[in-house]
Amino acid sequence: MGQGNKGLSGVRERIAKIVEDVDSLPSLPSIVMKLIEVVNSSDSAAEDAAELIEKDPALTSKMIRLANSAFYGIPRSISSVTSAVVVLGFNTIRSLVLSASVAKMFDGKHSLDMDRFWKHSVVTAMASKIIVRHLMSVRMMDPESAFCAGVLHDIGKLIFSQYMAEDYNAVCEYARTKKLPLIEVEEKVLGVNHARMGKILADRWSLPLDLEYAIVHHHDPENADKASHLANIIHLADLISHDLGCDMWEGEVHMQECVKCRAELKIGDADYEKIMTNIESSLDKSQEFLAILK
Ligand SMILES: [Fe+2]
Ligand SMILES: [Fe+2]
Repeated sequence: MGQGNKGLSGVRERIAKIVEDVDSLPSLPSIVMKLIEVVNSSDSAAEDAAELIEKDPALTSKMIRLANSAFYGIPRSISSVTSAVVVLGFNTIRSLVLSASVAKMFDGKHSLDMDRFWKHSVVTAMASKIIVRHLMSVRMMDPESAFCAGVLHDIGKLIFSQYMAEDYNAVCEYARTKKLPLIEVEEKVLGVNHARMGKILADRWSLPLDLEYAIVHHHDPENADKASHLANIIHLADLISHDLGCDMWEGEVHMQECVKCRAELKIGDADYEKIMTNIESSLDKSQEFLAILK
């Protein structure tokens, strides 16, 4: 598939246009921007976050349903946004609101199968959280930040898939039929991969820097000089999600594990086995999360 391919002529120019004119990309709804501020501020109370969420009835109902879902396994029923915030915590609420908003924002016509896309993202997120919980004794880290980075790690694909649906369809078709990793074909044909595109959205949305680094380096954590721990975790969770069959199409070929990744995270074979068992037994719960997200 060369640059002369009829369907793809001018594709690099179209991408350059998107990159130059970031204003054409969706902005985060103001409720979400304010909520991120509230979550990041040490003086915020649960009521501050709840007050914002309650301004959006659709978001409110999703929050309540998610808080009561088996995914979080809260033993008592939650009937108000304030108690959802208190029980789940600010960072979980941030993940939920961001996931729900991104799903809504990119609900147009896509070349990717959106059910598969979200399943891959949510399973990666869940795997990231389980890895962090497992590593807690070694290093303190917030499992919810990892969940959030996992949900958002492939958002760059959504730009390709929604804003240049035909071109990206051809890219995916080529990767699928030639059995090549999608990211390699993106680089070769589009000149930019989805991790770089994801960074553009992360910048536009002023996401926290650790999330941005994890998004841009989820395929090459060895190059993440800052926040490399989170990038390694997302990289590993991404591979696990693919290995469990949660990919963009059946039999999708993906990149190999970064050699140093597990060593950097200090995950030996026995630990890895435990992590995998935990992830596999949580797969059903992720279905419920997905159903509410959409
Ligand atoms: Fe990716
Ligand atoms: Fe991925």
